[in-house]
Formats: sequence, structure tokens, C-alpha cells
Amino acid sequence: MTENHPLPRPERRPRRLRRTEVIRSLVRETILPPQKLVLPLFLIDGENIAQPIDAMPGRCRLSIDKAIDECAEAMKLGVGAFALFPAIDPALKTPRAEHGLDESNLLCRAVKALREALPDACLITDIALDPYSSLGHDGLVSAEGEILNDETVDILAQMAVLHGQVGADIVAPSDMMDGRVGGIRAALDQAGQEKVAILSYTAKYASSFYGPFREALDSAPVDAPNVPKDKKTYQMDPANVREARIEMVLDEMEAADIIMVKPALPYLDVISQLREHSDLPIAAYHVSGEYAMIKAAAERGWLDERACMTESLTAIARAGADIIFTYAALDYARWFREDLA
Ligand code: PBG
Repeated sequence: MTENHPLPRPERRPRRLRRTEVIRSLVRETILPPQKLVLPLFLIDGENIAQPIDAMPGRCRLSIDKAIDECAEAMKLGVGAFALFPAIDPALKTPRAEHGLDESNLLCRAVKALREALPDACLITDIALDPYSSLGHDGLVSAEGEILNDETVDILAQMAVLHGQVGADIVAPSDMMDGRVGGIRAALDQAGQEKVAILSYTAKYASSFYGPFREALDSAPVDAPNVPKDKKTYQMDPANVREARIEMVLDEMEAADIIMVKPALPYLDVISQLREHSDLPIAAYHVSGEYAMIKAAAERGWLDERACMTESLTAIARAGADIIFTYAALDYARWFREDLA
């Protein structure tokens, strides 16, 4: 720049609106209150147990009494929805996962106890065979090592009816069998459970970010002859996004109430595509590996946990998620309250 040839000065200066915190707050496009979060809980049999999960610092497997305490605490902070995952005693797991249909199982007992202790809580149950399967798959495995679709849907539909009967508000099929939303809806309606909503794991990817979750439930596919080593024949290929829209259309036709993308942060494009092409509420699951990465880096002093967690969750909401499942729900709700104070 010389005096004779000054650079043109900009007329538009976006920095004017970044000058102070109050102005930044006025123009902020995405604000995520704790009411939009779902806290996933890992349940374990027993009493007064909070068993830390190695790969998920800050999260524990909780006995039902402890889970009630944690949910009550969460509700005071504005988090009123809970996704329940039972860590089933390995002795009760079988190849056909029959224990999943036993009304006295851990999950059913937990739903009843939570429903009674916290009538206003929204209880979301997972519909899939893996917590109860000795093979670690979400569906039935044939003798030849194939995951059986329609036979699995029949069981999932019975599971959904059972969960509705014990008090679930929302059932969430996470298995990725074809036609399961329609099957579950029909079974619920036939059983007089038309009030029970379906949150479908619409675009659930065969992701490597589920590792800590499978450790928490000890639910990884087992290494045995004629048992698939991964879930790639039913969960989606991480390379695909158009396929997510096909799943979305099918779930809409089958009367899903809420559609979900999982994981969240590596799949923001999928969230935004579903947002653009569907009017249903959209959920996103900030999964165990996404949580663990931030926790691990923060423990080493490499990342600021609060800032990175908040940035991640805000980005997921910005992409179009109305509802976010996150293990950081309690921490986030406390930070949100502190920021208000
Ligand atoms: C299983 C299920 C999984 C998760 C939720 N439901 C794991 C899997 O598909 O293997 C993963 C959640 C997470 O990683 O936080 N039906």
C-alpha cells in the first residue's frame, strides 16, 4: 500500500457483530439448551453400584437405585430424557437372546422403577438383540452365519410391546433390520400401545466409534465360526449419504416419529441432508468414541474439555439435529447453567 494507491476499504465489515459478547449473543444462530439432550445410561444388576467404564471417563454402569438418583439430578438441570442400555449378566445371554423378552429382565425392572420414581421423565429404550445375545449381534444369526432379517423383526416387535407395557415412552430400534419400524408400529398398535413413539436409528453407520459402548455392555460380536465379525451387513457403509435418504423415506413411510443419525460429528452432512429433506424431528447420537476422544485428550491436557464438548454439540445442532444423545449431557447442562449465572 502506498499513499498514491490506497487499498479500497470494505463497506461490509462482519467483524462489527463480533465485537462484544452481548452482540455475539444477539446474532448467535444456534443455542442448545439442555432440554434438547438425551442422557444415555448403562444399567447393571445389584444395589448401590456405580462401576466406572474405563473407556468412558466420568460414566459408570449404574444399579437401578443409582440410575434413579442420576436421572433425578439430570431433571433438575433440564435434562429429562434418558436412553437405557442394560449390561446383562453373561450367564443370561443366549444365541437367540430370549432374555430380551423376559419381563423380569434388568431393562424392564429399570423402566418400571424409573417410571414410578420419576413420572415426568421421558424413557427411551433400545430395541436390538445385542445386550442379550451371546453372539454379540443385533439380529438372529443363522447356522450359516447370516443375520436373519424378518425373523429378527418379529422378536424386535415383541420387545417393543414389552417395553411399552412396562412404561417406555419411546422405543428406539437400533438394529438396522429392513422393515423393523413398520413391524414395531403394527405390533404396538395391535397391543393398544399407540401412544408409544418410535425413534428410529435411521442412518446408523457401521462405525468404529462404538468401541467404548461395546466395552460398557461387553456386547461386541464374538469371535466364533459362522458368526460375522462386524455389523457391516446391516449397519450402513460410512461412505454413503444417498443411502441415508433412502432409509429416511422408508422410515417415514413406516411411520417413524423421530429419525436419527449415528454417529454425529463425522456425519454432519448426513444430518443436514435429512434436515433438508424431512420434516420429522431429527436426532443425532454423539457416540461413545466421540465422547472418549475429547475426554482422553483433555486428560492429557491437549484439549479443553468444556470448550470442545460445547463446540461439538453446538455443531451437531447447527447441522440440523433437534435432539442430541450425549454422554456429556450432565456436564453440558451444568456449564449451560453456569453461563446463565
Ligand atoms: C447396539 C447399539 C450400539 C450403540 C447404541 N446401540 C452399538 C452397536 O451398534 O454396536 C452405540 C452407541 C455408542 O457408541 O455410544 N444396538
